[in-house]
Amino acid sequence: MTVLDMRDVRKVYRSGDADIVALDHATVQVEHGEIVALLGPSGSGKTTLLSIAGGLLTPTEGAVVVGGHDISEYDAKQLTEFRRENVGFVFQSVNLVPFLTAEENLLVVDELGGGKGGKAAITRARQLLDELGLGHRLKNLPGQLSGGERQRVAIGRALFNNPKLVLFDEPTSALDTKIGAQVMELIQSEMKARDTAAIIVTHDTRMTTYADRTVHIVDGRLDADAVGADH
Ligand SMILES: Nc1ncnc2c1ncn2[C@@H]1O[C@H](COP(=O)(O)OP(=O)(O)OP(=O)(O)O)[C@@H](O)[C@H]1O
Ligand SMILES: [Mg+2]
Repeated sequence: MTVLDMRDVRKVYRSGDADIVALDHATVQVEHGEIVALLGPSGSGKTTLLSIAGGLLTPTEGAVVVGGHDISEYDAKQLTEFRRENVGFVFQSVNLVPFLTAEENLLVVDELGGGKGGKAAITRARQLLDELGLGHRLKNLPGQLSGGERQRVAIGRALFNNPKLVLFDEPTSALDTKIGAQVMELIQSEMKARDTAAIIVTHDTRMTTYADRTVHIVDGRLDADAVGADH
């Protein structure tokens, strides 16, 4: 089953009187449970591709189907609902809510989805954080956690709604090498345990060892073989 099917996507940013082509004929598929590393230099279009795959940005041209939803024609409201229900995001700079505890940062996801932060949600938040090695940090604020711990809370938040696709944008670039490797191992084992597909953006070739497949991007263009095995 294909979780992400992106075909001939083009993204043009209008900045002043210049057009910047950030993605050009980008075609990529990601299968159920597959971990794909997206490797490329700064400015090559990695964040743009991830944002389009997750419905944070709309493509200028092309088709984007995520978990059977054709999101290329969605309006802003439909995209918000789509994101909440279908994708998880983990960014480079951890964007946890600073005045909420680790546990509460996960419960925000439940509240955004109309939940009331009831018993089931609290149990799920605690279980997830425990699984991520943060069982003893539930009540800590982000400022009381280390960089690696904060990134693990962000992973828990991304997994809270059981998304079929999780998008990671340079998840370890703010961490030192050793902690970065631990976080990557955790990401890999969590994705595999849940059979969840992931795209991990990086410009560090060492990170590709944690992926099933690596797709290269240069100047907004992907490898010709970025299409999935079934296509
Ligand atoms: N909002 C925007 N308006 C205009 N140009 C943009 C915008 N966002 C990105 N760009 C341009 O599009 C290109 C691709 O940017 P993108 O952020 O996708 O690259 P990236 O591969 O994620 O880079 P990095 O590794 O530095 O994060 C770059 O030339 C960038 O300057
Ligand atoms: Mg980027």
